[in-house]
Amino acid sequence: MAEQKASNLTWHETTVTKQDREELLNQKGCVVWFTGLSGSGKSTLANAVAHQLHERNHHTYVLDGDNVRHGLNKNLGFSPEDREENIRRVGEVAKLFVDAGTIVMTAFISPYRTDRNQARELIEENRFVEVFVECPLNICEERDPKGLYKKARSGEIKEFTGISAPYEEPNNPEVVINTSELSVIESANQVVVYLEKAGLVPVVK
Ligand code: ADX
Repeated sequence: MAEQKASNLTWHETTVTKQDREELLNQKGCVVWFTGLSGSGKSTLANAVAHQLHERNHHTYVLDGDNVRHGLNKNLGFSPEDREENIRRVGEVAKLFVDAGTIVMTAFISPYRTDRNQARELIEENRFVEVFVECPLNICEERDPKGLYKKARSGEIKEFTGISAPYEEPNNPEVVINTSELSVIESANQVVVYLEKAGLVPVVK
């Protein structure tokens, strides 16, 4: 848990409310939290879902591990503590997006169950959709889109998830997508169907 350092703070209610923003956007702000190994397809899937929703006039945003680590989280590495802080910040940013009424997709390995659950706890119930992007390690390693597994095997990269650092699978994710069996379109469809069923986006006939 991050320590509260500042005191003498007063919460300010906003004039335009979350409900006002959601009415304007005709959607419910929510987080679609993708978790899985490097190379499992989180970013691809998050972007495919964002694309489908955008086509339906929904307001979306993708927070992606590699991108966020270039800016907001550029001072963090891959130790368990830094990964925890990475996910804590992303959870807080996702919460702001939800408050803005956006459907925010997060694509982070987020290997620790506790860290993911803490992110979930920040968000209103039924507005946090955990998607386990399931893909066997050997297939992620075969894909090796960034050549990182090779470097991890040779010892050039330390603490690499799945090789020399842990990945804890979710116990109760809202959605499981096996990207070694489904195409990107099929995978994205399944996530969108879940969002429809959960009443987060209207069903399109
Ligand atoms: S997380 O574990 O803290 O959630 P995050 O999703 O932000 O990780 O970043 C993972 C990305 O960083 C990977 O897709 C990969 O491109 C890169 N990366 C570099 N070093 C490592 C490492 N040791 N373990 C995992 N990913 C790494």
